[in-house]
Amino acid sequence: MFKRFRRLRTNEAIRSLVRETVLTSNDFMYPLFVKEGKFDKIEIGSMPGVFQMDIDEVVKECGIMLEVGLKSVLLFAIPDLKDSVGSECLCDHSLISRTIKAIKEKYPQMYIATDLCFCEYTDHGHCGIMDPKTQSVDNDATLEISAQQAIIHAKAGADMIAPSGMMDGIITTLRKALDENGFPNLPIMAYSTKFASAFYGPFRDVAESTPSFGDRRTYQMDVANRLEAIEESLEDEKEGADILMVKPALSFLDVIRDIRNNTNLPIAAYNVSGEYAMLKHAGNAGLIDYERVMMEKLLSMKRAGANIIITYHAKEACEILNNN
Ligand code: PBG
Repeated sequence: MFKRFRRLRTNEAIRSLVRETVLTSNDFMYPLFVKEGKFDKIEIGSMPGVFQMDIDEVVKECGIMLEVGLKSVLLFAIPDLKDSVGSECLCDHSLISRTIKAIKEKYPQMYIATDLCFCEYTDHGHCGIMDPKTQSVDNDATLEISAQQAIIHAKAGADMIAPSGMMDGIITTLRKALDENGFPNLPIMAYSTKFASAFYGPFRDVAESTPSFGDRRTYQMDVANRLEAIEESLEDEKEGADILMVKPALSFLDVIRDIRNNTNLPIAAYNVSGEYAMLKHAGNAGLIDYERVMMEKLLSMKRAGANIIITYHAKEACEILNNN
């Protein structure tokens, strides 16, 4: 006697009845990059289909997103002015503030999460204020200016703050700052498990945020560590995070599952730039069936336990889902 598993694989009707995981357009958040200036949009060589946009173009893109059923954006800003402390993002007239307001004016229903970090704003490209003694980011000094940045995003109308700098204590700091400044209902999506990954290369081209010296290994996590990832996540949960994140996604599906098994909070998976670029270039070279591989990859993140998938494929994936 043996079990005939194939009975439930006979045709699409029965396969779809027993299917355990299904992607929908509700699963995705779409990253957008706004750059200072007036130029419409510039495609990124390492990421075909991904653009730096000016404010008008971002607003236009939000309209297109809503048409395909994409209701949330993760916003990154690339300013002209960079200095040692990232002053551009610490004023009410910052690029990201102006962009949030412009989107909300035309599309108030668009859900805007903002990336909160300093690497796009500093001349050295690190994710905070440097400590000259250690040549690394000064954790506690960076917490102070992160709180300021969060309030500026909140005042401009952001719906969610997503701190990506991997500073210890960031969730406690931001929760307190938001609560004290009249934003107790603004959620925080913690980049709780952000690895010091080589998969961020293409993003740093788009965001113009490659560190001018050193790397990010003194603040981002060692890619070898599973248990530490759980600890980081549970700490952020304790500090008041509303959503936890694992980033990158594809090489870290085991970590998504580990965290899923240890928390009841929603989990976001960030399908990062290098993962997108590999697939896109392989597809363009005719080496893989791009659309099927893409959907399989996104599904694997949901199956691993992610509730939210942050991906540069979001628009393409929604178009495919809408046509099915
Ligand atoms: C840092 C930040 C990074 C990404 C998002 N926020 C890169 C880094 O740590 O250098 C990576 C996103 C991607 O690769 O798609 N603010």
